[in-house]
Amino acid sequence: MLKIGNIILDVPYFQASLSGYSDYAMRAIAREFGAPMTFAGVMLAKSVIHPKVFNKPSFKPGGDEHPIGAQLLGEDAEVMAKAAKAVRKVGFDLIDLNFACPAPKVLRRKRGGYLLNEPDKVIEIYNAVRQSVDCPVTMKLRTSFNNESYDNFRDICTRAVAGGVDALIVHPRAVCQRFTGSADWRFLSEVKKQFPHTIIIGSGDLFSADTIKNNIKNTGIDGAVIARGAIGNPWIFSQLREGEKFIPPTLEQQGEVILKHFDLVCKLYKHKKAVGYFRKFTAIYCKLHPLRRKAQKTLFAAKTVEEVLAGIKEWYGV
Ligand SMILES: Cc1cc2nc3c(=O)[nH]c(=O)nc-3n(C[C@H](O)[C@H](O)[C@H](O)COP(=O)(O)O)c2cc1C
Repeated sequence: MLKIGNIILDVPYFQASLSGYSDYAMRAIAREFGAPMTFAGVMLAKSVIHPKVFNKPSFKPGGDEHPIGAQLLGEDAEVMAKAAKAVRKVGFDLIDLNFACPAPKVLRRKRGGYLLNEPDKVIEIYNAVRQSVDCPVTMKLRTSFNNESYDNFRDICTRAVAGGVDALIVHPRAVCQRFTGSADWRFLSEVKKQFPHTIIIGSGDLFSADTIKNNIKNTGIDGAVIARGAIGNPWIFSQLREGEKFIPPTLEQQGEVILKHFDLVCKLYKHKKAVGYFRKFTAIYCKLHPLRRKAQKTLFAAKTVEEVLAGIKEWYGV
């Protein structure tokens, strides 16, 4: 179980915010396989204050998606607070503040992970958002900007905890590492020791159910958020729930899920876009196929919805 403010999840893992991936289609499939909560991809606060942004399939929460988290990115406390109100109004149940994103264009604008250099600004944003909404507010952090000192991280956590943050979601890499090296889960044990009464959720290098369970157990943290490990692999959620009883999906079962995912994608986007967009998912779905390269080749070559469907049928026997 995992309790984040008034949100109670029956298992201590959920699906991460994944920009460019975690639209309604991916979230619906993850939920079907047992993710108790999902997140839309990060939203730029200054865009969110224009209601049109919620016409985007990646951002609009469905009525069947509760609880669902929104993640906000921005550097201006007032705009972040307005954005928080806006996402709450359209139905998101939790607001996570992004102080972790390492993308160069985000850092250049002094947002995301850059703000680990500015603890006062982080806390100003947190306080403004906290006061503007009635739902749980969490923070996603990396450990430092450049691995030289963790003082800012500790300062931010100490002040956020004092201000009643509902959870700290920590990806234990420095911002400048982006995705290189390994996530340092020992760091998370230290965070939990320092803030024993705060919900600490870990992120980083979680690609198997065993790793997720062991990492939670070994560090003593409260939960984990599954990111790359959930792309094209919704079974990670059923495996976490079923443990030893989990039976890997047959080829046909995989095909049915891929078809369903593609069908949802086709309902969200114009068909030409859907075909191109879905390739990044098939690239990963195909990893479970014994003839991965050949299956991928057919699916990558497909240029129309009909060709994608025919390719899935051909390679998965559905
Ligand atoms: C394609 C992609 C998109 C991501 N989008 C977001 C995002 O919108 N917000 C966020 O906080 N993290 C985002 N992340 C980071 C993940 O949530 C996660 O913290 C990171 O990938 C480490 O976990 P993993 O190694 O298990 O994937 C993204 C990562 C990837 C690979």
